[in-house]
Amino acid sequence: MPITAVIFDLDGVIVSTDEFHYQGWQRLADEEGIPFDRHVNERLRGVSRMESLEIILERATRTYTAAQREAMATRKNGYYRELLASRLTAADILPGVDNFLAELRRCGVKTAIGSSSRNSPTILRMIGFDQTFDATADGNDITRSKPDPEVFLLAASRLGVPPMSCLVVEDAEAGVTAALAAGMRVLAVGSAAGDSRAQYRADSLAAISAATVLT
Ligand code: G6P
Ligand code: MG
Repeated sequence: MPITAVIFDLDGVIVSTDEFHYQGWQRLADEEGIPFDRHVNERLRGVSRMESLEIILERATRTYTAAQREAMATRKNGYYRELLASRLTAADILPGVDNFLAELRRCGVKTAIGSSSRNSPTILRMIGFDQTFDATADGNDITRSKPDPEVFLLAASRLGVPPMSCLVVEDAEAGVTAALAAGMRVLAVGSAAGDSRAQYRADSLAAISAATVLT
């Protein structure tokens, strides 16, 4: 079955906002006195905001009510959005993205975003990518975040392409699981580049040509 559509995760695949997510969570964890580091942060990739908080709270020494958790997630999102507003530009688009997209377009392959982030529309606008993809599906459209396949299945249906004709580009273990559960093939990049479940692996999109994954 040839690949006729490619669905991209956003954070850590198209743009380096994963670093701003990390800094936002680190600030919240420091204020609450909860141990947190880049190792724990790896588990947050692709996972929704509230589920990310639950992972961080595994190391907390006190308990928090549902209302307090909600407030903490909102606080982190405020820190994250401050970082986006002050630092995010088109220069944060990751190496190889522009070329890879251009190559897909030349081959007549459709493209979409499949992201767990509710900030996805804002980020796409800020980097000038709001008209770049044929479809988008994000955290605002779904009820179950990765590793559930919902966001990728929705992106495929918005493209009008069957799941088995789609390739997903992911930097998260949860995202690779979600793509495989959707019956899609996977190109794992960045933090997920060592994931042996993926059919294709590369350090970044600069290290692989679209032709490799289309054959
Ligand atoms: C992406 C990131 C996660 C983040 C999630 C929700 O999947 O990889 O680290 O937790 O989006 O993002 P949001 O912007 O809605 O808080
Ligand atoms: Mg990601």
